[in-house]
Amino acid sequence: MARVILGVTGASGSIYALKFAQILKDAGVELHLIFSETGLEVARFELGQEGLVELKSLAHKRYDAKEFWTAPASGSSDFDAMVVLPCTMGTMGAIANGISSNLIHRAADCQLKEQRPLILAIRETPLNEIHIKNMLRLATAGATLFPAMPAFYTRPATIDELAFSFAGRIAQFLDIEVKGLPVWTPNS
Ligand SMILES: Cc1cc2nc3c(=O)[nH]c(=O)nc-3n(C[C@H](O)[C@H](O)[C@H](O)COP(=O)(O)O)c2cc1C
Repeated sequence: MARVILGVTGASGSIYALKFAQILKDAGVELHLIFSETGLEVARFELGQEGLVELKSLAHKRYDAKEFWTAPASGSSDFDAMVVLPCTMGTMGAIANGISSNLIHRAADCQLKEQRPLILAIRETPLNEIHIKNMLRLATAGATLFPAMPAFYTRPATIDELAFSFAGRIAQFLDIEVKGLPVWTPNS
């Protein structure tokens, strides 16, 4: 993995995006960052100004979600993977139905059409029938649904640890090295 697009939408869980961006930095992977309009607002609210500044600073390049004259809008740009983290039901619905009304939707559409990895860390509860049908459409179209469900079996002591282990699972799935990722070990 050399170049990864990270789409940050307006679902709860911006801390996962920050942890994932830190992991990419440590692994020497280029981060191409796109906030949706609400994603930026929710990130500011959940991370605070300091956390938001850190997240932005970890990007190799940042794009405006309204800007289509950019590399992520083209399938020929050859990004290795795209992760939407966290991913709203709205963004999932747009991607599931091919509605490329912002750069996150369009970049995700490109990943699918070029058969390159697309991970959606969806977050909502409870789920309605529309959400579930959209998940099935996306799984069938080649996306990986990675619900933002952090694990407690690594016994995290802090929210930071919890978020790191979830973001680390996504990175690990993409074969990106994650230093210090807590692992669950079987008894036998
Ligand atoms: C504080 C806050 C938390 C939200 N959390 C979620 C969420 O977890 N999941 C979700 O689907 N939408 C959530 N929303 C609603 C979305 O932000 C809203 O539907 C928005 O239009 C999504 O646009 P986007 O997908 O372009 O970011 C939240 C909104 C706010 C203000």
